[in-house]
Amino acid sequence: MTETKTNETYVLGSSEQEHERLIRQAGIFSTITERLFQDAGVASGHRVLDLGSGLGDVAMLACRLVGPSGTVLGVDNDARSLAKAKTRVAEAGLRNVTFVESDLTSMENVEPFDAIVGRFILEFLPSPGVVVSSICEKLKPGGVVAIQDACWGPFLQLCSHLPLRSKCADLIYQSFQRSGANMDMELVLYRIFQEAGLAPPRMRVEIPIGDEPDIRNYVCDLFYSLYPRLQQQNISTEGVGNIATLRERLEAERTVSKSFGACQALVGAWSRKRA
Ligand SMILES: C[S@@+](CC[C@H](N)C(=O)[O-])C[C@H]1O[C@@H](n2cnc3c(N)ncnc32)[C@H](O)[C@@H]1O
Repeated sequence: MTETKTNETYVLGSSEQEHERLIRQAGIFSTITERLFQDAGVASGHRVLDLGSGLGDVAMLACRLVGPSGTVLGVDNDARSLAKAKTRVAEAGLRNVTFVESDLTSMENVEPFDAIVGRFILEFLPSPGVVVSSICEKLKPGGVVAIQDACWGPFLQLCSHLPLRSKCADLIYQSFQRSGANMDMELVLYRIFQEAGLAPPRMRVEIPIGDEPDIRNYVCDLFYSLYPRLQQQNISTEGVGNIATLRERLEAERTVSKSFGACQALVGAWSRKRA
């Protein structure tokens, strides 16, 4: 494995604020992710590889599905996130979840897996197809691949009726795009699964909406995590006014319009390696 510290180019960074956001986001998306993994066939006893583990939420979710006879290995190139992930896993008493610090573009020496999973990760890789093809070589015949990534169209559309929320969503989109993130993962996933020798994936797009606090605050939380990056990227945030009062103004806009909160949409793709 390559020695890597904090990933300076990763658009969302590794701040305390972003870590807390990731945990709240994991709470919002957990049922969607669990359903995808179950439908994909992640099952008891499986040895699972979790790509871009972050704070370990997907790894812990996979651990529940594989049970005590299975194992989960999480990979991330951010040492700070992995340190927290390890602490959280130890606090949860999960002895069969381990982590390794590595860039996904240069992973070495991994043993074969029954399932490869990942959420909000391939979109950040410059060549996701190359990574998936190379990691699939480590997948057992008949093994499962189940991936979820951002799907921007439904997210932007569900923000479009509220001017302030829409401006925030547009800035978030610009920042991701300028950082080099893949903005059309629904197309990319369908193609790269097949290029990796997998059967054409089954796919779905899901988007949590509603007025639960974490869903209501989703856009603002994401905006605040990205704010330092927006400044670095010289993307003007003038259009959204005073950042200190943004959360209150977004909430007032939503309440007055009697609208719901909207999160990033997730496109899920799952398939199996040919036996
Ligand atoms: C949005 S977070 C997702 C975390 C987790 N999968 C989840 O859904 O909660 C993306 C993670 O990918 C990691 N990451 C980004 N680029 C990476 C790379 N090239 N190799 C390994 N990890 C990477 C980041 O450090 C971050 O922890």
